[in-house]
Amino acid sequence: MKGLILSGGAGTRLRPITHTSAKQLVPIANQPILFYGIRDMADAGITDIGIVISPVTGSEIREAVGDGSDFGVTVTWIEQPEPLGLAHAVLVARDYLVDDEFVMYLGDNMLEQGLASFVERFDTARRAARSLKLGEAPVGAPSAQILLAKVDDPSSFGVANLDAEGRVIGLVEKPDDPPSDLALVGVYLFDASIHEVIETITPSERGELEITDAIQALLDTGRVVHHEVLTGWWIDTGKKDPLLECNRLVLGTLERRIGSTVDDSSSVDGRVVIESGARIVNSTIRGPAIIGENTVIEDSHVGPFSSIGPDCRIVRSEVDNAVVLRGAVVSDIARLTDSLVGRDTVIRRGDARPRAVRMMLGDNCHVEVE
Ligand code: TTP
Repeated sequence: MKGLILSGGAGTRLRPITHTSAKQLVPIANQPILFYGIRDMADAGITDIGIVISPVTGSEIREAVGDGSDFGVTVTWIEQPEPLGLAHAVLVARDYLVDDEFVMYLGDNMLEQGLASFVERFDTARRAARSLKLGEAPVGAPSAQILLAKVDDPSSFGVANLDAEGRVIGLVEKPDDPPSDLALVGVYLFDASIHEVIETITPSERGELEITDAIQALLDTGRVVHHEVLTGWWIDTGKKDPLLECNRLVLGTLERRIGSTVDDSSSVDGRVVIESGARIVNSTIRGPAIIGENTVIEDSHVGPFSSIGPDCRIVRSEVDNAVVLRGAVVSDIARLTDSLVGRDTVIRRGDARPRAVRMMLGDNCHVEVE
């Protein structure tokens, strides 16, 4: 079985971060989101992985992932000229996928549960169907398997319609009147029949070839689609607040590791990772938190659920529930919370008079001041 990770797309909902960087490289506990998906695949024994990238952010993603050997996988890069939909990404990956079964994973999604049992169920169902002998009742082998999660607001997702026996009989994208509260999670398993049906679907109103339409076309042509209901959390990290929530959940799983200097007037409590070269001076770090390589925390309090990237400086400030990217500086800020701070950004209290808020902000920024 092959893997296909979708890491193209526009990332409009995570601007301005995605003006300059791929959203799949935004760090969760100081590791790019995408790396978690690659590791999940490797853990499920899938080592032949195609990664779909866009012409805009592709080179940065290639550089971050390398040849895959750090993860024990082999990566094939597939460029999608334009983000024309999830089914379009499968279409452009056709030559790589040939007729193999594959697991497709959205590069900005994260799951608590691994992929191993999900993949094994599909394999078992297909093997069981193949091993039937003449005269036995026919059982259709699944052509696809989807993962579903109960959500509070199904109308903003692709939603599955199940019959009384719990079989998938239909899928609808962002319905006004949802047939269930089971939303499609960004992980799918397909056999080669998906390519046949993608040839038959047309772009949706938003101009994309939708994977929900392709799965519906599988059902319409008599194919069997199995499903599994997710256990544990699942987060589409494409917006700031879910991203911070995901960061909180992952930080909560870290093992304490203090890899560098903490001076005598500082304290480090709970699940905290401090990477090498970092310096903690006259400060408090309250876990769960991670402090990246060569970052300096001075006369500050870094509170729970904070991921401070490498080469940052936090001085005379309080930070909590935040993801701060490489090279950022936070200085003399009474409290920075619920925040995503981009690379090399400087946030500091100025002493110029008259007192005022002075900024140089890029496009699509969002700032809340006291
Ligand atoms: P989405 O979050 O659905 O789309 P997007 O990346 O364009 O984001 P936004 O809505 O903020 O503009 O994409 C889910 C994942 O699939 C994400 O990792 C990007 C990837 N993707 C592709 O690789 N190709 C595509 O054509 C699309 C639409 C998404």
